[in-house]
Amino acid sequence: MTIIDELGKASAKAQHLPAPITSASRMQSNRHVMYILKDTSARPAGKGAIVGFLKVGYKKLFVLDDREAHNEVEPLCILDFYIHESLQRHGHGRELFQHMLQKERVEPHQLAIDRPSQKLLKFLNKHYNLETTVPQVNNFVIFEGFFAHQHRPPATSLRATRRSRAAAVDPVPAEGHGGPRWPGWDHSTAPESQGGLTAPT
Ligand SMILES: CC(C)(COP(=O)(O)OP(=O)(O)OC[C@H]1O[C@@H](n2cnc3c(N)ncnc32)[C@H](O)[C@@H]1OP(=O)(O)O)[C@@H](O)C(=O)NCCC(=O)NCCS
Repeated sequence: MTIIDELGKASAKAQHLPAPITSASRMQSNRHVMYILKDTSARPAGKGAIVGFLKVGYKKLFVLDDREAHNEVEPLCILDFYIHESLQRHGHGRELFQHMLQKERVEPHQLAIDRPSQKLLKFLNKHYNLETTVPQVNNFVIFEGFFAHQHRPPATSLRATRRSRAAAVDPVPAEGHGGPRWPGWDHSTAPESQGGLTAPT
């Protein structure tokens, strides 16, 4: 099992999902981007600890506007988001989210969110003032302002190069390049290879 599988499992458990929606095999077959926040100063192993992750991707959706008309759009979607239980409500989620917004060059109200949890809805309200939703018939949530400035996905060629790429966001300078681990994890359970984790350009 890879670190991405472990992350997906932990997120699914936190959201009470019947099965993980993030896994290494899904990352290989979808054009999703995974931003990973890692604390490289974590002790005692000195190999760093993963704080959480945020998975995003462009999806073609039919969404209703405030006149209940169907619109075909391809917004950037929040697909999975998880901060380790011991580290929630310390600002790490916001740090990761801000980094994603900057890298993807997107504004919060331009996003579509796949089945947001109550925690995520509160998070979006607190940090980005997102409150009024536009009712939908699918599982995605969009907010007022979504249609005002539609965000276009990057050109196909660019998107192809982004395929299955994961991004590491280090809150502190890196030391060594051992595999990241959960806080409190036994190092022997951490995967050996982290070759897929590279920063987006
Ligand atoms: C949603 C989540 C990613 C936010 O990350 P975070 O690091 O806790 O967020 P921040 O510290 O940057 O922001 C904290 C704010 O998020 C919201 N929030 C976070 N945890 C919450 C909780 N247990 N109950 C209610 N609101 C919560 C609140 O608005 C909170 O502000 P407050 O503490 O002043 O009430 C994280 O709570 C998490 O992993 N939750 C479990 C998985 C989940 O629900 N993921 C969303 C997928 S749809």
